[in-house]
Amino acid sequence: MAKIIDPCTLVLFGASGNLSRVKLMPGLFRLDAAGRLPNHMAILSVGRGELSRETWHADIKTMLDAKFKNGYDKAVFERFIARNHYHANPPTDADAFNKMKVLLSDEKVFPQNLAYFLSVRPTDFAPIVEQLSEVGLLDEREYWRRVLIEKPFGTDLPSAQALQASITKHLKESQIYRIDHYLGKSALQNIMLTRFANTMFEPIWNNQYIDHVQITNNEILGVGDRTEFYNNTGALRDMVQSHLLQTLALVAMEKPKDLSPDSIRAEKIKLLQSIKPIPVAELHRHAFRAQYEAGRVCVGDGHGENVRGYLEELAKEGVTGSVTETYAALKLFIDNPRWKGVPFYVRTAKRMHEGNTAISIRFKKAPMQLNNEQHQNWLTLNIQPRECIKMEIESKIPGLDIATRTLSIDGPQRQQGDESIDSYESLLLNLMEGDPSLYLHISEVEAQWRLIDPIVKAWAEDQSPVHQYKAGNRDPEASSVIFDAKDQFWRYSIELGGDKQ
Ligand code: BG6
Repeated sequence: MAKIIDPCTLVLFGASGNLSRVKLMPGLFRLDAAGRLPNHMAILSVGRGELSRETWHADIKTMLDAKFKNGYDKAVFERFIARNHYHANPPTDADAFNKMKVLLSDEKVFPQNLAYFLSVRPTDFAPIVEQLSEVGLLDEREYWRRVLIEKPFGTDLPSAQALQASITKHLKESQIYRIDHYLGKSALQNIMLTRFANTMFEPIWNNQYIDHVQITNNEILGVGDRTEFYNNTGALRDMVQSHLLQTLALVAMEKPKDLSPDSIRAEKIKLLQSIKPIPVAELHRHAFRAQYEAGRVCVGDGHGENVRGYLEELAKEGVTGSVTETYAALKLFIDNPRWKGVPFYVRTAKRMHEGNTAISIRFKKAPMQLNNEQHQNWLTLNIQPRECIKMEIESKIPGLDIATRTLSIDGPQRQQGDESIDSYESLLLNLMEGDPSLYLHISEVEAQWRLIDPIVKAWAEDQSPVHQYKAGNRDPEASSVIFDAKDQFWRYSIELGGDKQ
């Protein structure tokens, strides 16, 4: 059921940036079209350059035209565009935030509940919060004031804590919305519901029945035009630190006592804090990194395309000798009775043979083994591109003999006519509703950095050449060094039979 949203103003910093163009403006437009924005709701875009409101409206139209190639409703467009305003906030203008305050004080145009979306460089988060506070725009005495911070929240534990210390001079924890767009994915939200809204999973969701869990994000895309950012970040920090550890938390956490944001976050925090740190001396058996080299990847229409290797892409920008990983795989253990001894393999890679995000759970050996074959059931929760749940079970081949084959029961989560909602749409709505359940608490962020930091540090210190894998291929063979047992192997997309190396 739709929650009631107070009249509010969304103040969008970095409004002309890529995220805003591709996700935020189109997302807000779709929310408007779906009747989910309150009647009295305004959007104030804040950018560095001076622009007239008309020019900004024309730019928004360009963003919507690019996103909705099949057109959109004219009446919704008129309503949406009327909500949109622009304010220039050049860094050279010492009075810019005061001017913004004066503009926002027009209550007829701008409802006084204010949600700030900081889609800006991470180094700008703290200064913006400080300046908002200085001019009184974070004061909650009469109206609510919330600040959404895009990822990354710090680049390691100390920087995350420093950011936290500087923004909490001006904000309470309840005012801070730290985004991880993975939590806005409907298929990720479904993990918790699948586990707890069914009777059959809970009894087997533990070390007595589960052999291991694989949490995978593979992409066909390379680092694109983000070479500088990526080379300073790497796959561990870019994908594992938040997106994949959050996914792991949802798979492994205990049942929250209710569905309130506090109860859900409390269980996720407990779980993240109970992941055992990887001892640096054991790193080679728990973590593997690699970089893609030139190869051929699959493009949309099924054709191949030759692509450069990561080091070649960097060389074009004048960077040499990078040991930054574009492939990262970790083996993690959770220190609690439910999961004792169960490896969680978490992996992410760019330039793989397929793009797929999934949780694959392998169960222990079946009590009855036929024909000397070791059968093990798999359960896959596929997140993207297909949202589905797939279960593989052994079943008799009809006929005179006693023999089995693997039957795949495939339940698409998305059915014809279902709404397709981008993660940013649901997260924007939650921000305005004041529902932080899909946002990260600082304790989650800290637990995630605590786990990742020692690995990032050890990898940065080890300057020996990094293992190379051919773009468009499957996991490098050498990555299997982290498996606990010889019969473990990487699972790929949900098709049967296509998974063993
Ligand atoms: C971003 C990373 O956070 O997530 C990107 O910076 C990555 O490198 C992206 O490609 C993946 O998101 P999604 O939603 O496409 O799986």
